[in-house]
Amino acid sequence: MKDFQIGIIGGTGGIGRWFASFFRREGYPVQVAGRSEGMTSPELAKNCRVVIVAVPIAATLDVIRRVGPHLPPDALLMDFTSLKEEPVREMLKATTAEVVGCHPLFGPDCPSLDGQNIVLCPGRGERWLRWMEELFKKGGARVTLSTPAEHDRMMAFVQGLTHLDTILLGLTLRDSGMKASELDAFSTPIFRTKRAIVEKVFDASPHLYAGLLAGNPAMEKILDRYEKNLSLLKELILNRDAEGLTTLLKKS
Ligand SMILES: NC(=O)c1ccc[n+]([C@@H]2O[C@H](COP(=O)([O-])OP(=O)(O)OC[C@H]3O[C@@H](n4cnc5c(N)ncnc54)[C@H](OP(=O)(O)O)[C@@H]3O)[C@@H](O)[C@H]2O)c1
Repeated sequence: MKDFQIGIIGGTGGIGRWFASFFRREGYPVQVAGRSEGMTSPELAKNCRVVIVAVPIAATLDVIRRVGPHLPPDALLMDFTSLKEEPVREMLKATTAEVVGCHPLFGPDCPSLDGQNIVLCPGRGERWLRWMEELFKKGGARVTLSTPAEHDRMMAFVQGLTHLDTILLGLTLRDSGMKASELDAFSTPIFRTKRAIVEKVFDASPHLYAGLLAGNPAMEKILDRYEKNLSLLKELILNRDAEGLTTLLKKS
């Protein structure tokens, strides 16, 4: 057994639970806490050299503020939030401990770290940052160091634009009043794949997708471009201008 404990607030579910299993397999004792389970924030800070915040986006800043002040300077405070600017800023404010922002770019249904991307945003200190980087790399992850601002800008494309598109597809289907059973017999493989993604976003964890769309300031530019392109497409389609559409697609 390694000689210090890792505490995960939000380790009773979702991505926090996934990493609790990962750290345990690596030989680290892990304490998990949720809203009504496990140690309190001061207890976790007292007993764990590494404390990770893995709670829903809406609760993240509050949890950071509660645990941060209890950590000693040689400990590590880290988070798994899908957005990085606000959580990293808040961690630096809330604690004198070392700080690392971390975003695992996969979900809890992933079988292992092998081949997965993880972004680390250095906040304060080098020691725990290097340890975490090596541990993730040993598990087969591709680790990228980035600033919180750059991370959030990239996420506006990678997650924001993707989920925006999925949500619009879902809302449009819902508004059309079409029943799932009616669509089944007419579905193509690509439509079935897209429908499965729509169902995941609408049913599995709507708060996760809502949080990362509403919380990323870089979404404004993406929405402007999206609107502009939608208007352009609408015009070409309503004018039955297949040639214009083809030219547009070829250009990109
Ligand atoms: N899921 C993903 O694919 C994924 C991937 C990368 C990053 N993330 C990030 O990871 C974080 C967690 O997302 P998730 O999808 O894993 O969430 P989740 O499945 O809803 O799990 C959240 C966990 O947080 C606990 N929790 C909720 N509110 C809390 C509070 N106020 N205080 C303490 N614990 C609380 C829950 O425990 P109880 O129910 O026991 O209270 C549960 O263990 C988010 O910031 C998200 O952006 C998620």
